Amino acid sequence: MKVMIIGANGQLGSDLCRAFQDTQVIPLTHANIEIGNINSVKGVFNKYRPNMVINTAAYVRVDDCESNRDKAFLVNALGARNVAAAAQELGAKLVHISTDYVFGGEKDHPITPYTEFDLPIPPNVYGQSKLAGENLVTHLCLKHFIARTSGLFGVAGASGKGGNFVETVLRLAKERDELRVVNDQVFSPTYTKDLAKKIAQLITTEYYGIFHITNRGACSWYEFAKEILRLAGLNTPVIPVTSNQYPQKARRPGYSVLGNYHLRLLGMDDMRPWQEALVDYMKEKGHIK
Ligand SMILES: NC(=O)c1ccc[n+]([C@@H]2O[C@H](COP(=O)([O-])OP(=O)(O)OC[C@H]3O[C@@H](n4cnc5c(N)ncnc54)[C@H](OP(=O)(O)O)[C@@H]3O)[C@@H](O)[C@H]2O)c1
Repeated sequence: MKVMIIGANGQLGSDLCRAFQDTQVIPLTHANIEIGNINSVKGVFNKYRPNMVINTAAYVRVDDCESNRDKAFLVNALGARNVAAAAQELGAKLVHISTDYVFGGEKDHPITPYTEFDLPIPPNVYGQSKLAGENLVTHLCLKHFIARTSGLFGVAGASGKGGNFVETVLRLAKERDELRVVNDQVFSPTYTKDLAKKIAQLITTEYYGIFHITNRGACSWYEFAKEILRLAGLNTPVIPVTSNQYPQKARRPGYSVLGNYHLRLLGMDDMRPWQEALVDYMKEKGHIK
């Protein structure tokens, strides 16, 4: 078995490389493959001929996607297509990583977690481009798993975003007198180590389709920040603000909690609460003992 990991030095990709210790891994960075270029993708697939492929690569800067629409669709939609078509040609299984931001664009958002069977309505260009990528994967590669996840934190930090929320909060708490964090965007924070383990388990099955994979529970970014600081023993005040008080280029969903419904139906939803995962992460980073 050969598993090719695209985006191998990214936040999720680096934990995926660790999760496949007993399998032959082909770790590809952006220097090795450009998913937006079909010839680059074909060349790499013909060279390595993997049985399993995990595509974590994406244009992940949510606000920049609003002004760089072409790049968003080139990477997140056409890039996903190029990988899916190449995987299909080899008969390989494909895990494609997607996002909670395919949801939340409707006027009145729900207050119960979205399932894999809910209709996605993306609120921004990033979500639209990721949804287009999902649809292309679904149509082009038979043995596909689409893994939607949210609010990732991992030891490597997101290379596309220059870190992650946990590290940003800890840094700013030491630099500033107070932090202002939005309290009206609710989601499920997810540790990439836990997500990677679940993907490694899922790819050995034939349960193809869409999967929501997040740590259990939900919170707002404000609540997440408070918990990070509590664990770190920092008492910098955190002021809850609304999205209107903290304008960003891309509209964010007020609620984008993903229920791991498909995993639950299969008896495979043993994802731990986000608070436990956060403790584990902060220990691994040396923030707490
Ligand atoms: N971060 C989150 O909170 C979050 C939430 C929900 C879903 N997701 C999804 O999870 C996945 C992984 O996110 P992450 O946080 O691990 O991101 P990341 O750390 O930025 O990793 C993405 C990797 O893909 C590479 N890459 C970017 N564009 C590429 C291209 N056109 N061709 C080939 N490689 C390319 C990046 O390399 P360079 O940096 O060198 O370009 C990087 O190694 C993405 O699909 C994202 O949409 C993320």
